[in-house]
Amino acid sequence: METKDTTQWLDTSDPRKFIENTAKFNNLMMMYRCAIREVQTKLEVLNDEFSVENKRNPISFIKTRVKKPESIYRKLQKTGHAFTPENISTLLNDVAGIRVVCAFVDDIYTIAALLAGQDDITVLKIKDYIKNPKPNGYRSYHMIVEIPVFFSSGKTPMRVEIQIRTNGMDFWATLEHQLRYKKGIEEMAGYDKVSRELLECAAAVISMDNEMQRIKDEIGEFHDI
Ligand code: GTP
Ligand code: MG
Repeated sequence: METKDTTQWLDTSDPRKFIENTAKFNNLMMMYRCAIREVQTKLEVLNDEFSVENKRNPISFIKTRVKKPESIYRKLQKTGHAFTPENISTLLNDVAGIRVVCAFVDDIYTIAALLAGQDDITVLKIKDYIKNPKPNGYRSYHMIVEIPVFFSSGKTPMRVEIQIRTNGMDFWATLEHQLRYKKGIEEMAGYDKVSRELLECAAAVISMDNEMQRIKDEIGEFHDI
């Protein structure tokens, strides 16, 4: 595909320019890492407060990642855009990624609402694949948020993708992701059967998540004494 931009950030014909661009890229990635830290701290604060008040942790664990340079490059190239800092920050929503794995389904909505309600967070996009699971069985609650990060040059709004899911949803998504990225999997004999079986596993996870939620509701609130 032809690129729409005239400036190619990855031009290696001028080494000095290339080194300069690499420094710019590293700086941008540092900014995304900082944005992740800001959001991660907010989530940890919510988890900490909740655990003191309710005697249990709504968040099992948090995983973070910054998108790899080759994935950033591939994603821009797919839409015919050049690999430039401007394009990365304006066109991509998932350079900074946070995955929040919760104990119960209702914890997902509690955490999402508490985060969205904070006045320095702007929610840009929500995809609720729990209420509307993907045809393959994928479930998770996705949010794209913008958070201001304070650098020496001033305040910069940074975008972060947050995926919130239960342990069950994460268990399923991890295997499905590994299979999907297995080379040539779609041509494999029996691929349809594998897809069907994965969908059945997703249904089993949904019913387990719902059952665990029901049992938790039945037990009621947790107390020390
Ligand atoms: P990209 O997939 O990042 O290009 O963005 P999108 O706009 O399609 O966003 P979406 O919210 O649908 O998905 C974003 C991310 O969610 C993906 O990069 C995956 O990490 C995860 N995800 C979405 N669909 C699936 C799925 O079917 N299986 C698994 N395992 N993960 C998924
Ligand atoms: Mg993505």
